[in-house]
Amino acid sequence: MSLFDLTGKVAVVTGSSRGIGKAIAEQLAAHGAKVVISSRTQETCDEVAAAINAEHGEGSAIAVAASISDKAQLQDLFSRTQERLGPVDILICNAASNPYYGSMDGIEDEQFRKVLDNNILSNHWLMQLALPHMREQQDGAIIVISSIGGLRGSPTIGAYNVSKAADFQLVRNYAVENGQHGVRINAIAPGLVKTDFAKALWENPEARKRVEGQLPMRRIGEPEDIAGAAVYLASAAAKWTTGQMIVVDGGATI
Ligand SMILES: NC(=O)c1ccc[n+]([C@@H]2O[C@H](COP(=O)([O-])OP(=O)(O)OC[C@H]3O[C@@H](n4cnc5c(N)ncnc54)[C@H](OP(=O)(O)O)[C@@H]3O)[C@@H](O)[C@H]2O)c1
Repeated sequence: MSLFDLTGKVAVVTGSSRGIGKAIAEQLAAHGAKVVISSRTQETCDEVAAAINAEHGEGSAIAVAASISDKAQLQDLFSRTQERLGPVDILICNAASNPYYGSMDGIEDEQFRKVLDNNILSNHWLMQLALPHMREQQDGAIIVISSIGGLRGSPTIGAYNVSKAADFQLVRNYAVENGQHGVRINAIAPGLVKTDFAKALWENPEARKRVEGQLPMRRIGEPEDIAGAAVYLASAAAKWTTGQMIVVDGGATI
């Protein structure tokens, strides 16, 4: 049996209707997991789930809309998953927000709170929902999609970077508390990936050329580039890895 086999596991992936979350959900399904596609928009989640079911067989994916800003909706996401697929074995906290671009001096309190709520507090809620079952079965994997922004200062996305740095610490704290219960909690820190979320940073061909020229691998990432690290951390291949952060950035931070 492959070290990366996820057959029979139930995986919830927030923000999986497009971008990095979608690529992760597709790869988890390709490795045998049953995946829950979730974002704020039911229709797009339905489409992604239907495509996964067409490729990997009916029952490979379901779609449950939920906003990460709303605790009741996240509770509903977990109860609907439990009803339809059983308890959650793998949780990918992927959805996040970045509503502000500019100096920290200019950010409104409401914008800062949104960043902290959606990028830190919601991950804490999701972990609280997933952990009781994982602890009971002495097995489980939680993965937070953070960012290399959490390793750096920035003149334009400072609050977002604060939240992503906090995710590294969230993962370490939860890992300390839950290692004894067989549950592993890790983070992935992607560099610039070609998704809607980061469009402002790669859409302009001149800007993209400049960024890519500075990258050791000479290209920005595709969503699929992040999925392998998620499969690894979710699987038995990473069974003694917890509280860690894996950078996947084409060499940007070296
Ligand atoms: N792209 C990059 O360069 C990059 C680099 C480092 C880290 N990241 C991180 O990677 C993660 C995914 O980003 P991405 O680039 O893949 O973004 P994306 O392509 O824009 O996809 C975002 C996904 O999250 C969903 N979403 C957005 N707000 C949500 C909310 N409040 N509640 C629930 N779902 C929500 C979106 O669907 P709906 O809009 O329909 O809800 C969509 O499915 C984020 O944590 C981001 O910080 C991205």
